[in-house]
Parts: sequence; structure tokens; C-alpha cells
Amino acid sequence: MPIPCDSAMRRPEFAAWMKQGNDITQQFLSFGNRPGLIALSGGLPAPELYPVEDVQKAVHRALDKHGSSALAYGAVEGLSALREAVAQRLSTDRLSLKAENVLITTGSLQAVELIGKALIDPGDVILADYPTYLGALDAWLPRQPTYGELPHGGPWPEAKFAYVVPNFSNPTGAVLSVGARAALLAQSSESGIWLVEDDPYGELRYDGVVQPSLLAIGAESGSTAYDGAVVHLGTLSKTIAPGLRVGWAVGSSEMIRALSQAKQGSDLSTSTFCQAVALELIRADADRRHVPTLVNTYRERRDALCAAAQENLSDLFEWSIPEGGMFVWMSARQPGLDTNALLSFALKEGVSFVPGSVFDPRGHVSPSLRLNFTANPPELLQEGVRRLSRAVRDYAAQRPAAE
Ligand SMILES: Cc1ncc(COP(=O)(O)O)c(C=O)c1O
Repeated sequence: MPIPCDSAMRRPEFAAWMKQGNDITQQFLSFGNRPGLIALSGGLPAPELYPVEDVQKAVHRALDKHGSSALAYGAVEGLSALREAVAQRLSTDRLSLKAENVLITTGSLQAVELIGKALIDPGDVILADYPTYLGALDAWLPRQPTYGELPHGGPWPEAKFAYVVPNFSNPTGAVLSVGARAALLAQSSESGIWLVEDDPYGELRYDGVVQPSLLAIGAESGSTAYDGAVVHLGTLSKTIAPGLRVGWAVGSSEMIRALSQAKQGSDLSTSTFCQAVALELIRADADRRHVPTLVNTYRERRDALCAAAQENLSDLFEWSIPEGGMFVWMSARQPGLDTNALLSFALKEGVSFVPGSVFDPRGHVSPSLRLNFTANPPELLQEGVRRLSRAVRDYAAQRPAAE
């Protein structure tokens, strides 16, 4: 009997959720490799600023000190010394954190995903800002949640958790005031709903004053380990380098146990080697020492992008200058402008951005777009904005009705 060739075989279908999924993140990351294209679409740090020498030293110290145990399987929860180091760093006079409050994760995106895995059954409600972080929407898609827009001024509907990026949100760059943070904590405690605080950008502040974290504001003084409803996520991706893939979730020991159980079947543990390197970097304060260099460079880039936008785009878009983070969120003055359709005009001009629809939990067409200012030097940002301005004018000329 002839062996059936590949094309004649019927293979099982992929899972139903994949039909709603998309490869938008992969596409936008791939724009970074197109010759001649100025990618304002990425969410990436400046690779030339990765502290290679500090990492090199940390790698040597990690292997000298930990030897072969740096290359072994590790505990699901993470290296206990690293958990303790994170707990110590985030503890304050009022907030007492122990190793049991910390789970080390493979980037903070894994923590986002594990929260969905541990909490969401199909149809359960997640409260989030609209727009919200695309990676979180992707991470939760297989869980089939329902979304509700997070009310900042009133009572919360029934939900499993609320998700916020309180410092320089992705995509809007917005910061929550202390009052807004306190209001979220009050609603979380009144409704008994977990409050997820995703904070990858907090250290990247270029102006204004540091706001206390939800975790810190919500803490009740005492020496017993934290037992509140906030789950705080952090990462070394923005202060050292994303290739390390080391992040953490900090929360009540009950939540950390649940997330550890969820993690067990995902990757057994975060790379022990990367954790040992991260521990050495944190012990040497390498990430904190690196922040001023990042802040000075990124501030200059933000200013260059915003100045170019003021010159070339202010008749078409409006935006706020972000106090930190990596993004400027621009909204068309003409609400009918469809930034999904605009993207192909921009690519033709040699510039990319991310259309607002991908950050909308409902996928609604959006008159907004996200521009990244950290991954390119000022001259390229300025040229990118000029190209974008030409693209919007081409678009308007060809689609007068939409304008
Ligand atoms: C809001 C937010 N959360 C989480 C992440 C994931 O970061 P990582 O997994 O590299 O720690 C990002 C990355 O861009 C982000 O913007």
C-alpha cells in the first residue's frame, strides 16, 4: 500500500482559541529587521545600552560561586537567595516581604500568563484599562476570558482580577496618581478582587515625582509576611536586558503558591543559570546603577520624537508627553482615521507604528497609534516622524471620506 504523502493527510485542527489569535507581535518585531525601515513599532530597549560588561562579570561570579548548581534544575519558585533579594529590595517600613511572597518568573510576561492560568475559567471577567497591554491580551486568550473596562471612579463589577500598568502604561504612557491608586485599592478590598500591578517601566522616569506602588500603598504595617490582594510584577528586562528573561511576581503566599503550581507545568523553573546571573547583578546593584544612563538617553529620545511630532504632526494628532517609559500614544484629531489602514501607507514610506486596535480587548478600530522612542537615536526618530507625516497625508488624500 502506498504511504500517503503529506498533502493527502488530514491533520487535527489547532485549538479553537488560535482562530482568534494573531501573530501581530511577531510581525511588529520583524519590522525591526527590514532594511531601510524605521521601526517605531517595537517595545524594545536600546540594545547598544545593554550593560554587557556588568553581565559578563555577573556570569563569572555566578559560575564561581554557584558552580554546577547554576546549571541544574531549580525549585519551581526560584532560587531562594534571589527570592530573598527581591523581597528585601521591595520591603519598606510598612511592607514586610519574605521569600515566600516572591515567585521568580521567565520574564514578567510569564507572571501575567500564570495569573490567567491560575485564576481564569472560560467566561470569567478580567477588568482592564482600554487600551491595555497587548502581551497580556495574548497571554490570556487561551483562557477565554471576558473583559470589562476597569472603572476608575466607581464600584467594580464581579471579576477575578483587575490588571493595571500604573507607571507609563503600555501603550498610553499614562501614570496613575496616588489618589487613583488609593481608589483602586479601596475597590479591590471592597469587592475582594485581586489587583495585578504590572510595573516593568517604573524605573524609567524622565520627569515628575515617583509614585508609590500599589503594593506599598496597600501594605499594612507589621512584621508578618504580606497577605494583601495586590500581585506586583517586576522584571530586569528594561533595566538590564530582556534576553535574561528574569522577572518576578510578588504577592500573598497563597497567591505565590497558586502561581507556582501553575508554573510547574509551564517550564519547571526559570533558567537557573539566568537566575544566578540576575542574583549577582542585583547584589552588585548593577541594574540600579545603570538606570541614570538609560534615563538620560531615553529622555533625549523622547524629547526628539515629541519635538519632531510637534513640527510635523500637530495638525493631525494630539498626544501627551509621557513622564517616562517607552511610548507616545497619539490620537487623531479626526476620529474617523483608521490606523489599521494607515499602517500600509506608513510601511510604504518606510516607517512602522502599532495601530491602537491591537491594544483594545474588543479589537475595535482605533484612531490612535503607539510610537516607541527608546530603540532609535534622535535623528532616526525625527526622520521616522517626517515619514509618518507624509504617510498620513497620503492616506488622507486617498481616503478623504475617512478624514
Ligand atoms: C506592560 C508590560 N508588561 C510586561 C512586559 C513583559 O516584559 P518581560 O517579560 O520582558 O519582563 C512588557 C514588555 O514590553 C510590558 O510592556
